[in-house]
Amino acid sequence: MERLILVLWRLRHFEHFAKKEILYWKEAWRMISLDNVSTNSIAIDDEWNFGNDDEYLMHTLHAYPAKFPAFIASKAFDYAEKEGVNVECVSDIFCGCGTVALEAKIHGKNFWGCDINPVATLIAKTKSATYNVKTVEKHYELIRKTLQKVDVPSNVYRDANERLKYWFKENSYIELLKIKMAIDMSVPNGKYKTAFLCLFSSILKASSKWLTKSIKPQVDPNKKDANIIKLFDDQYNKFLRSIKEMEDIPNNSKIEIKNNNFLSIKKLPKVDLVITSPPYVTSYEYADLHQLSSLWLGFTDDYRELRRGSIGSVYNVDDFQINVDLLNKVGKKIVLKLTKNVDSYSKVRSVARYYLDMQNVVKRCSEMLNVGGMAFFVVGDTEYKGVKILNSEHLIEALKENGFSDIKVAKRKISKKMLTPYRDNTGKFSSDKTQRAIYHEELIISGRM
Ligand SMILES: C[S@@+](CC[C@H](N)C(=O)[O-])C[C@H]1O[C@@H](n2cnc3c(N)ncnc32)[C@H](O)[C@@H]1O
Repeated sequence: MERLILVLWRLRHFEHFAKKEILYWKEAWRMISLDNVSTNSIAIDDEWNFGNDDEYLMHTLHAYPAKFPAFIASKAFDYAEKEGVNVECVSDIFCGCGTVALEAKIHGKNFWGCDINPVATLIAKTKSATYNVKTVEKHYELIRKTLQKVDVPSNVYRDANERLKYWFKENSYIELLKIKMAIDMSVPNGKYKTAFLCLFSSILKASSKWLTKSIKPQVDPNKKDANIIKLFDDQYNKFLRSIKEMEDIPNNSKIEIKNNNFLSIKKLPKVDLVITSPPYVTSYEYADLHQLSSLWLGFTDDYRELRRGSIGSVYNVDDFQINVDLLNKVGKKIVLKLTKNVDSYSKVRSVARYYLDMQNVVKRCSEMLNVGGMAFFVVGDTEYKGVKILNSEHLIEALKENGFSDIKVAKRKISKKMLTPYRDNTGKFSSDKTQRAIYHEELIISGRM
């Protein structure tokens, strides 16, 4: 009997190691050197389209536009390690909802990340923290008890923030306010409160008049009222399941997440690996897409203020004047072409500003990386009024100018973006699938320091 157990154990582990070995040889060549090829000629590689394992449920706790799939981060860890990088500390400088942060924790790596959007960092912190199930249950019980007692003044809706009144009917607003008050009254400041506020934030769109899956903030006049308490309960149960699923993950990673503009942080940490997907140019207005959460959680009284500093935002130009001499040769060429083809000076200005910001981003990354470290950027190209906006080529040029070597590329298809981007003839965003699909491919660009 003992012998049989031993044989079975060996077989099981043989299968495990054999699978790992096969993956190693399959993936080792999955990034293509740019020495003799252009990014155009690179074919889509399925290796970067699919994961080898299912994502942890925690990854799905809160929707986030432009979130990338978790397997990109885990494949990047594997790839970097195979290439000889000693990955102890990982960074995502545009950490969004914390996909890389959570994967770093799962893989036992330290993590440093930042995002300018306070809703993003709230989600990222929640997903990458470690919890005690009993403590979560205790807090939830108290929230539910408090909810029975909590009362709101009769004129509370009349006096509410105008923008929230625009999005929420009176009954939904009052129910949400009671949940928010119950959380504030029952849970002391700290990671548990952050987590319950994140659960609260995750039900706001479904509780509002926001058109489900819309590419832009848009009211759905026919949307049915949601059962808000049920939504909250469901999210709580999902959170509990997520925590339990992660119980075996050791809690030995140091995770640091900052709500900051990456370009204004004075002291950056030293890291071995950067994995990031930069914001796209003139596409998503992250501040607008998260306005419900920003307003409810008191991050601002006017969500438009949060557009400032957001790279790629059309509103992030203030008194910026174009100086093409500051742009690298790819950026300069594209901006000059846009100037000839596009009437809107503000559009050209935002692209120029984006390229300048991205050049500074790459420079700062080069300063953060330890010698021998690696950076991964996931970027998409786009087009505006017939002019190709080649973000990938611009980024590659910036990497070269900032001392990166061994620059390699892979191409992937975007399959699961929450918001599918299309543009109409005038270059405006549209949800109409007959229009031109943009950002349907992404490039993964790596470089060594
Ligand atoms: C493509 S998303 C990243 C999504 C992320 N990979 C994820 O899985 O959730 C780009 C992020 O850059 C952030 N961002 C834009 N400008 C920034 C800045 N100046 N500093 C830091 N973050 C910024 C946006 O708020 C957005 O969350």
